[in-house]
Amino acid sequence: MRSGQSRPIVDMTEQKPVTESTAQKVPALPDAQTVTEVKHYTDRLFSFKCTRPASLRFRSGEFVMIGLMGGPDPKTGKQKPLLRAYSIASPSWDEEMEFYSIKVQDGPLTSKLQHIQPGDEVILRPKPVGTLVHDALIPGKRIWFFATGTGFAPFASLLREPQTYQDYDEVIITHTCREAGELTYGRDLIEALKDDELLNEVIGEDFWKKIKYYPTTTREESAKMGRITDLIRSGEAYADLDVEPLNPESDRAMICGNLAFNLELKEMLEEAGLEEGANSKPAQYVVEKAFLD
Ligand code: A2P
Repeated sequence: MRSGQSRPIVDMTEQKPVTESTAQKVPALPDAQTVTEVKHYTDRLFSFKCTRPASLRFRSGEFVMIGLMGGPDPKTGKQKPLLRAYSIASPSWDEEMEFYSIKVQDGPLTSKLQHIQPGDEVILRPKPVGTLVHDALIPGKRIWFFATGTGFAPFASLLREPQTYQDYDEVIITHTCREAGELTYGRDLIEALKDDELLNEVIGEDFWKKIKYYPTTTREESAKMGRITDLIRSGEAYADLDVEPLNPESDRAMICGNLAFNLELKEMLEEAGLEEGANSKPAQYVVEKAFLD
């Protein structure tokens, strides 16, 4: 025994040393999933991927509750999960889960969530729900996906869903954001569809040619300026896209954005003669709010 060591050294040779390759991450949280990738787009937007619960089945376009463990309650010291609804941005067949999120500096969840790193854990409650699903629409020829901001997320899922292209001849996706940088996530995703070998093989070669993408900005110069609602009302969007105006016979639509946008577009679709559908009563369009912190 060396000087200064008063206690006998415990023989540790029976236990295998834990190395990086043998270490098993034990989920400390209920419904914990491990973050595998994080990408930041602007100071207000980021996306992340995490592992998928083995038992989770969902329909492209649905959402789940996502979160982190909150700080200890000052009185009881107990910690409670802090959860928010997030549209699943990955398609139903993907082995990983993807989410697209806003960062709110004083938001209870996103102020923390924006700092996650690969290897961290998030809580993912495996109970998917939502109305932006193909099951809530009756057959049609053309589908419109209308998004603002992070409302693009469910369409990131549906644009990679084979059924979208099986059900429709034409897929029009509009995305209105304040600034040009906020379009990056959607633009990159749509661009990547062209070179996605798996999707071209599964859905059919050149499936992406059915997509008409119409990004617009309202507070920063870009190729197309203006709110989609105004651009449709004036007929400019139809002319730019070279398509016929909305019509209840052939058109189906899904809306996901901020509340004012959802309401305005809903009214426009109703005026055009489309009726709102639901899982229990499929019709011509469906709407869901993009959940913000
Ligand atoms: P605007 O800049 O003119 O308000 P937000 O970041 O506030 O959720 O907004 C996202 C995008 O949605 C912005 O470009 C915003 O335009 C647009 N927007 C907000 N309200 C409406 C609406 N009622 N109709 C169409 N677009 C809207």
